[in-house]
Amino acid sequence: MTGALGIFDSGVGGLTVVRAVQELLPGEDIVYLGDTARVPYGSKSPETIRKFADEDAGFLISRGVKAIVVACNTATAHALPDLRSRYGVPVIGVIEPGVEAALADPSAERIGVIATRGTIRSHAYQHALAQKKTGLMIYAEATPLLVPLIEEDWLDKAATELVLRDYLEPLVEKGIDTLLLACTHYPLLVPVLRGVLPEDVRLVDSATTCAEHLKRELGRLGLLRSAADGGGLEVHLTDLSEEFETLARRFLTKAPGRVRRAVLES
Ligand code: DGL
Repeated sequence: MTGALGIFDSGVGGLTVVRAVQELLPGEDIVYLGDTARVPYGSKSPETIRKFADEDAGFLISRGVKAIVVACNTATAHALPDLRSRYGVPVIGVIEPGVEAALADPSAERIGVIATRGTIRSHAYQHALAQKKTGLMIYAEATPLLVPLIEEDWLDKAATELVLRDYLEPLVEKGIDTLLLACTHYPLLVPVLRGVLPEDVRLVDSATTCAEHLKRELGRLGLLRSAADGGGLEVHLTDLSEEFETLARRFLTKAPGRVRRAVLES
């Protein structure tokens, strides 16, 4: 699919971005790459994450994509500048759109950020938030157990709710008004999160905010396709698993066709 949008993530998380893009930009063809053989990225070192992200982007470039969406906060936090300088297509990350959306509500003052260890340790969100608004209280918490629970499709299990309660208790005690779901896997947890958090905590995710940002960017660059044009989805995974297919069917608005096995060049 030449001229498609290339979207990659370490695993199923990027599907949340795919879904948001399908809803907002129905004319775009999408080539999705999930690096399911090497998920999670969040516990790896910055060098390894940069290497994996480079291989993921290289794969999408070889499919002739017109732009790349880094649908992974961990990869965005560590690899965005490298990818932008290396590839001759627009490369869009998830952090800037999430931060802008979190601060779009002027009453946001106490912001919780949950993400992988890699994202929290990079301080990318903490810096971006503090730079955009002074006086913010930012409470960042690494929540490394969440990605494996999601990848295993444990969304409805009591254990997942318990883990969430444990992780979120300190943030709730700080009186957060906004929770930034700074990992593209986390929108899949929204129904459980709603039951765990006080009602008035605003949830901001990377998926819808990224899709909106992407629409503006593609429009600005004259790269938008009209709704009548495409809407195809090609899914490539570095490891094929039944769990992915189940989640993909449950989560995407259109079920992906044949899922192909991707071999990445190092
Ligand atoms: N979905 C990813 C993110 O947004 C990464 C999860 C992982 O591979 O650890 O950070």
